[in-house]
Amino acid sequence: MSRPHHYWMAEALRQARKGLYSTPPNPSVGCAIVFDDALISCGWHGYSGGLHAEVNALLAAEIPAGADIYVTLEPCSHHGKTPPCVEALIDAKPARVIVAMQDPNPQVGGQGLALLQAQGIEVIVGVLEDAARELNRGFIKRMEQGLPFVSIKMASSLDGRSALKNGSSQWITSAAARRDVQFLRARAAAILTSAQTVLDDDPSLNLRLSKQDLKQIFEVRQPVRVVLDSRLRLSGSEKLFTIPGDIWIYTLSEDPDRHERLATRGATVIQATEDAAGRIDLTALLQDLAQREINDVHSECGQRLAGALIDQQLADQVVLYLAPHLLGSAARGVFDLGELTAMEQRKTCSMRDVRQIGEDLRLTLSVD
Ligand SMILES: NC(=O)c1ccc[n+]([C@@H]2O[C@H](COP(=O)([O-])OP(=O)(O)OC[C@H]3O[C@@H](n4cnc5c(N)ncnc54)[C@H](OP(=O)(O)O)[C@@H]3O)[C@@H](O)[C@H]2O)c1
Repeated sequence: MSRPHHYWMAEALRQARKGLYSTPPNPSVGCAIVFDDALISCGWHGYSGGLHAEVNALLAAEIPAGADIYVTLEPCSHHGKTPPCVEALIDAKPARVIVAMQDPNPQVGGQGLALLQAQGIEVIVGVLEDAARELNRGFIKRMEQGLPFVSIKMASSLDGRSALKNGSSQWITSAAARRDVQFLRARAAAILTSAQTVLDDDPSLNLRLSKQDLKQIFEVRQPVRVVLDSRLRLSGSEKLFTIPGDIWIYTLSEDPDRHERLATRGATVIQATEDAAGRIDLTALLQDLAQREINDVHSECGQRLAGALIDQQLADQVVLYLAPHLLGSAARGVFDLGELTAMEQRKTCSMRDVRQIGEDLRLTLSVD
């Protein structure tokens, strides 16, 4: 008896994961080619502009006619930076093409599948779709909603505190948890924070893992550091500016001297939109990041910005590191949501994963 579709799609997903840290803004895609219940070739997409997973797999071995081709994302049907994969697949004369999910781009979704079917190739869609969607959650959200996937990382004491009243928060969690955060940064194209957190903590906000740590063959890609600084309070002498990598500062200030001060320190200063409360409009900010091809935003900020992201339903995920100590009720909370007056107003999350990292607990939750 031959092995089921999900067995081979799991192999294609394993291939796709090799590109997790290097493919953005493109999706991570993997391919497995099977003949007579044996894997004969596989491939993955490595970087934007590089060959697509299907083409890499077709080139890696002699493919007999009548094979089953497993792909984690619908093969492309348009001429982008590389020729359409559908043409290469048709030339290989497969019996079946099994796809985990349709292309999320509403303008192209389904066309690649229709072209295959028009050639008499059997097409099966939806095998291990949830895992495929999780792999490209940022790309999918950008395509479907014009917004990036937003994950908020928070370090909290056991009594739900993110910093002392005086702003001190280094360090709430253990070195092991802080190293774990590096892997969250690696998956993101942008790290989001506020001028307040930069002034209080003077963080580097860079990625300090090697390609060996990430088990990848490509050089490590530094996420862009995005800072909300409404009044341009940063001086340009903060540690952030001494570390290589892009810095985008969103502001409401039109003061040319302040713009110049940060631009000469290498930052790109971007005029933000003001919301009704006179703050930076967070929806417009995230839309602008999506237009700049940012798929995944990893936020490391304090309770006010984190609360605003949750309150405005812009956050998709919370990763909470819970440390085994107490900071007391004078310390700052984790999410500033203002005062709720009825239990029905509470924000709910769903637990996705719980594990111990060093001394701390890591909770991964999706925001409902
Ligand atoms: N435990 C943790 O994981 C963790 C992580 C990071 C930081 N922290 C701590 O958090 C503390 C800072 O927390 P915080 O609550 O004062 O600051 P925050 O949440 O980091 O940032 C709030 C600031 O963001 C800016 N902002 C711009 N547009 C906004 C909007 N639409 N909504 C909300 N904020 C907007 C505002 O500053 P401007 O007006 O200047 O733009 C605002 O004061 C620091 O002491 C730091 O140590 C803890």
